[in-house]
Amino acid sequence: MKGLFITGTDTGVGKTVIAGYLARYLLNKGHTVITQKWVQSGCKGNFPPDIAAHLKAMVRNKSYVKDCLHLVCPYKFRFPASPHLASRMENKRINPRKIIRSFRTLARRFDFVIVEGSGGVMVPLDRRILLIDLAQEAGLPVLIVAQNKLGAINHTLLAVEALRLRKMDILGIVFNNPQREDARIIKDNPLIIGALTGENILGILPWTELPEKLYERFVPIAEKICKIQR
Ligand SMILES: Nc1ncnc2c1ncn2[C@@H]1O[C@H](COP(=O)(O)OP(=O)(O)O)[C@@H](O)[C@H]1O
Ligand SMILES: [Mg+2]
Repeated sequence: MKGLFITGTDTGVGKTVIAGYLARYLLNKGHTVITQKWVQSGCKGNFPPDIAAHLKAMVRNKSYVKDCLHLVCPYKFRFPASPHLASRMENKRINPRKIIRSFRTLARRFDFVIVEGSGGVMVPLDRRILLIDLAQEAGLPVLIVAQNKLGAINHTLLAVEALRLRKMDILGIVFNNPQREDARIIKDNPLIIGALTGENILGILPWTELPEKLYERFVPIAEKICKIQR
């Protein structure tokens, strides 16, 4: 596996946390790793916030990407909205070819390229193209991050159906616990979703404000992801 695409059931579900920690895990194993955010909206400063968070999780500083930031994040926009709207507000078109090229260039330079999606699978880049179409074109296997809350069953099953419709390779589903949710829902979501889809349930990440503890809990999940042969 050369890379993977991390999608989620929604925005704010833990994609950035998981992308960063997976990158850290692979670095610790001795691989060369880079993360990508194809389209970053809500980028107020010069540096894409999700890439900054990945680097922090990887225990690397910004100089790690200084030569390749234009490839790591080909599009950044100020307004926090869907890429199609955020780009339109700046009168800028998103060129899918440029995104695919950035991925391929990094894939030649690094052992692993971890791509974090924007929002969920069916997010538009313009009036024709969805993010999922680009991930399909890049040939990337997909990791789904599901926020482990009421509503996750529907959101996760829809994401799985959309990926299957495009014959995309689903690595599995990571459940990320929100700050507050009923313990019975937290326990049942992965079971019912596993039963209904037959997809790999890669683990449940607890809610914790302690980054080191979160990483420690992520390691067994990363091990499972890396054992999947592709
Ligand atoms: N398991 C967790 N424990 C504590 N905080 C978390 C956890 N998962 C996500 N967060 C926090 O929730 C917020 C949203 O997560 P993030 O990874 O940025 O989501 P996304 O990339 O899907 O938009 C961030 O502030 C992140 O640090
Ligand atoms: Mg993010």
